[in-house]
Amino acid sequence: MAAKILDGKAIAQKVRDEVREGVARFAAAHGRPPGLEVVLVGEDPASVTYTRSKERMSNEVGMRGRLRALAAGTTEAELLARIAELNADETVDGILVQLPLPDHVREQAVLDAVDPAKDVDGLHPVNAGLLALGRPGGLAPCTPAGCMRLLAEAGVQLAGARAVVVGPSNLVGRPMAQLLLAQQATVAIAHPSARDLPALCREADVLVVDAGMAKLIEGAWIKEGATVIDAGMNRDDAGKLVGDVDFEAARERAAWITPVPGGVGPMTIASLLETTLRAAEARIAKR
Ligand code: GUN
Repeated sequence: MAAKILDGKAIAQKVRDEVREGVARFAAAHGRPPGLEVVLVGEDPASVTYTRSKERMSNEVGMRGRLRALAAGTTEAELLARIAELNADETVDGILVQLPLPDHVREQAVLDAVDPAKDVDGLHPVNAGLLALGRPGGLAPCTPAGCMRLLAEAGVQLAGARAVVVGPSNLVGRPMAQLLLAQQATVAIAHPSARDLPALCREADVLVVDAGMAKLIEGAWIKEGATVIDAGMNRDDAGKLVGDVDFEAARERAAWITPVPGGVGPMTIASLLETTLRAAEARIAKR
């Protein structure tokens, strides 16, 4: 039987509608909307597109979203000074520094400089640490948060399930594994080069893939009835957007599957908006 499609576009719309209501409540209660600052260094075309979407969509839900586009030659000291200003600005609730940064800037030094309470990317060691310890109160990265929402919308039972996450990135794989673990799934994190990758995938009731390799995961590797979440975004030889999973083959075995495009992608910005609202509420509650 063909899998049911996990429609990220429709679910992201639902998340944005929820956030819009929360933003209106926040603004009415506190006299200002939540503020999101997106910092971009340089002109990488994909990053320009992503950051413009983040700015536009944050404003569409009623936030004050601003894109700070800095020249490619911005020094690390200049960038750190800008982050310090945003940290000190009471009307700023979320700060996102778009990655990758130019080579002359140390990514870790920059990510560590963001106030953890405003770190809506969840990349500060404090937030990553809270997540790893299973402690509440931190901010989780938006792509894995969006994947968890997709699983919840599909009603997938995570407690007791075997989950496999392919790709150990700080933005997706590692935090995804922690979020699944917190829901009592038994989790393995695999490198895309794992010798036994097909066998590992065949065990997965829930398979989450973020490997950056077109159609890495073959249909025959999918367990019957599994839920497949594909965070990959690649161009095939014909220039068509494809995920890390062979969608047509995998859908013959899976119970639920995300398409590419239209699955995980739309959830990422929707989750960023949700996290920004949560960060704003948490900052106000702490005062
Ligand atoms: N570059 C690609 N995806 C992301 C993301 O989610 N956050 C940041 N900061 N940079 C990215």
